[in-house]
Amino acid sequence: MNILITGANRGLGRVLVDMAAAAGHTVFAGVRNIDSVSSQLQAMKDRYASQIYIIGMDVGDEQSVRDAFYKVSEQEAYLDVLINNAGIIKGRERKIEEVDFQEFEQVLRINLMGPMMVVKHFLPLLRKSDNGVIINISSEAGSFANAYGGDYPYAISKAALNFFTAQIRNGLKDNGIKAYAVHPGWMRTDMGGASAPLSPEESAEGIMRIVNREIDLDEEHFFVDHLGRPMPM
Ligand SMILES: NC(=O)c1ccc[n+]([C@@H]2O[C@H](COP(=O)([O-])OP(=O)(O)OC[C@H]3O[C@@H](n4cnc5c(N)ncnc54)[C@H](OP(=O)(O)O)[C@@H]3O)[C@@H](O)[C@H]2O)c1
Repeated sequence: MNILITGANRGLGRVLVDMAAAAGHTVFAGVRNIDSVSSQLQAMKDRYASQIYIIGMDVGDEQSVRDAFYKVSEQEAYLDVLINNAGIIKGRERKIEEVDFQEFEQVLRINLMGPMMVVKHFLPLLRKSDNGVIINISSEAGSFANAYGGDYPYAISKAALNFFTAQIRNGLKDNGIKAYAVHPGWMRTDMGGASAPLSPEESAEGIMRIVNREIDLDEEHFFVDHLGRPMPM
């Protein structure tokens, strides 16, 4: 399969690139800044030279997303899987009285508008696949049922990402494209911190099973965890 993964420089995205390449897929690893690729991602590119393409794609910049589309199109005529993984968190632990709306805009730009821009521009390639799938990496923080009084920008961006997933799920259904919002679990990454219970490898393993259709997802639920279990909306 041909797979595009955003935010591939570190964390979950980098591990997903590794696993997808190891499984024999062709992987387009989108990175925010092509001039500062992490040594770990570069090492993977060296190991799977013919399968991994590192592509500059700042998901907060529509021109960068458009340019990335042209670069991927030069290599492959179609895309089977798009994993919108890039994400940021800001304004953690702040109360509503302390919310910084500049930060709020940044978070919405990357976590919500980013996936929307990537879907908008890469749709022509997904439409050419027989089994196109969009996986938006979401979070339990974006669940209405678990709403808590904190992480306002992040949680609201993920709730809106879930809604966007519901929209494209219906909007692209006629093209046979499926869409899921996946909570990867609390992971030991720069974002999740050292005390998280899951390694990004454990989470990526589950997500790759979803990608490889080894987990049968209940079609009624589009918001699931990394093992394909329904999440409360
Ligand atoms: N960690 C958790 O416990 C947890 C829990 C629930 C959901 N999630 C979600 O899982 C996803 C991955 O999180 P993570 O823990 O791997 O985070 P992370 O370790 O902080 O890594 C974030 C990745 O996103 C990239 N990124 C940030 N801004 C970008 C932009 N404008 N354009 C392209 N890439 C950009 C970063 O690139 P640079 O290296 O260039 O900055 C980095 O590769 C996120 O969507 C996050 O919200 C994480």
